Amino acid sequence: MGTEVIRIVGVAASLRQGSYNAAVLRAAAALMPPDSELVVGTITGIPLFNEDDEKAHGLPAAVTQLKEAIASAHGLLWVSPEYNNSLPGVAKNALDWLSRPPADTARIFRGRPVAIAGASPGGFGTILGQNAWLPVFRTLGTDLWSEGRLMVSRVHTLLGPDAEIADPATRDAIRQFMAGFVTHIRRGR
Ligand code: FNR
Repeated sequence: MGTEVIRIVGVAASLRQGSYNAAVLRAAAALMPPDSELVVGTITGIPLFNEDDEKAHGLPAAVTQLKEAIASAHGLLWVSPEYNNSLPGVAKNALDWLSRPPADTARIFRGRPVAIAGASPGGFGTILGQNAWLPVFRTLGTDLWSEGRLMVSRVHTLLGPDAEIADPATRDAIRQFMAGFVTHIRRGR
């Protein structure tokens, strides 16, 4: 019997075209350990949550798509910017949609391994933004992995000419973070 391939879905919690957090996510996908893969999901196309719209029309396709991507993955990597020392509203809005309807929340999130990471042009690498996500993922009942930390500071200085993460130390940190998360997922299986 071969080693089980661990599949992680990764989401950059930013809508920005040139998102640094999306660049970190792409680097993570390229630096996964053996027998694992990271598929990139997106919050793009998710409208503002409105319970009236939900009642009238159900879940938008972009929400259903991301929900099913998470449900079929062994783990979720959430790479989020920090806004005003907290989490970005657009991403919280997406997560609120993903938690609907309540009867389906457990199927998507309960016990699901989750790793939080983030990148910022500032010096603190989203440390407060990451903390702000903790109660959200806790209330969803996820298996929040906390052995590793990935806070990418001064991210704009770490890019190559193609705007991808080029700094060797940062790539090593990303590689180690993903290896630790995959090890955690394997331990739980
Ligand atoms: C920011 N930014 C920011 N950065 C940070 O390290 N701490 C913070 O509290 C904030 N606050 C903040 C508020 C708002 C409203 C914006 C628009 C931005 C800067 C932020 O890190 C920067 O815009 C990143 O480039 C956002 O991530 P993406 O979109 O590049 O992934």
